[in-house]
Amino acid sequence: MPSLQNILASYNDRAPLAEASTIPAPWYVDSRIADLEAKTVFSKSWQMVGRIEQVEKPGQFVTASIAGEPIVAVRGNDGVLRAFYNVCRHHAAAVVTEACGQANILHCPYHGWNYGLDGSLKGMPEFDGVKDFERQKNGLVPVKAGTWEKFVFVNLDPEAVGLGELLGGLVKQVAPLGVSKLHYFDSRSYDIACNWKVFVDNYLDGGYHVPHLHKGLSSVLDYKEYTIENEDRYCLQSSPMVASDEDKATGATRKGDRARYFWQYPNLMINCYEGYMDTNLVLPLDVDHCRVIFDFYFADVSDAQRAYNEQSVAVGARVQDEDLGICEAVQRGLKSRAYGAGRLSVRREAGEHLFHRLLAADLKAGVEGMAAAAD
Ligand code: FES
Ligand SMILES: [Fe+2]
Repeated sequence: MPSLQNILASYNDRAPLAEASTIPAPWYVDSRIADLEAKTVFSKSWQMVGRIEQVEKPGQFVTASIAGEPIVAVRGNDGVLRAFYNVCRHHAAAVVTEACGQANILHCPYHGWNYGLDGSLKGMPEFDGVKDFERQKNGLVPVKAGTWEKFVFVNLDPEAVGLGELLGGLVKQVAPLGVSKLHYFDSRSYDIACNWKVFVDNYLDGGYHVPHLHKGLSSVLDYKEYTIENEDRYCLQSSPMVASDEDKATGATRKGDRARYFWQYPNLMINCYEGYMDTNLVLPLDVDHCRVIFDFYFADVSDAQRAYNEQSVAVGARVQDEDLGICEAVQRGLKSRAYGAGRLSVRREAGEHLFHRLLAADLKAGVEGMAAAAD
């Protein structure tokens, strides 16, 4: 079995696009890579955990899992949004057990310890006589929290750069689109038998697969004019829209002059049409499974618009179904002895190239950091 170092070294992250290959197959199928990603990618990047409107009022909270770590983000009585490991300091039970909600106090269901919305430990039943126990030092362990546009983010790394710095040019790209005026409508969740990177690669192929796999979507995009821009840690894929009668549901629900598809490293996608946005959050489950959560937003979520919005979600779900089968086929192919790595289309696949280089940089730095720590 090749060492982790050899697997990482088998990708050349300095090759220009015309000479580059994809990251090699073992990166998608070897659980040591998945473990390394949890430590060096997901534990160190800003991860979306919810929507701002879920934590608007004091006591409102959302829970999430990042790299296997249970997390809760909660708005304090002072209006400050904070996040914590959702792990009781007594015997490690999850303190907050609902996905989202509102509470005056964070109450552990196991032995009834209570924490304030600021994470401080307020009370422990039947704990008199315990020596050398400092209540002040036994609050929930904090993690960094931040917000941008409609979204709440958390970062497990105390040394992490700020959310704004990490997003870089994406902030000014998204600002003119007015997505904060859109309203959340509905979500869909898909469990897919593929490594999380297969889903990201599929998203970042610059529309390469669209005419072949998504006939309906293809009918409203001017495929030849599709553009791909890489900057910082994001890729913007964009296409002019064309009127189409070919597929009525797609034509009616995917409107505007341009389609814009943003990907922010490592696992967040934001797709915008006129009066429409959906986000895709790709969560690794294990080396060959991921969960993709779609959140759909519309300009108008009144009852009068419900049927239209539902039709729009159904169009998104159909595209997703088309992608799902191909992602699972790719995962099977990546395990085949016949496959090592593939080349990239210069016209289409610059986004994948960016993704693979950013990932390689994180994984290589992570391994070096661990080696230095072990010395
Ligand atoms: S584990 Fe939370 S009170 Fe015991
Ligand atoms: Fe697709």
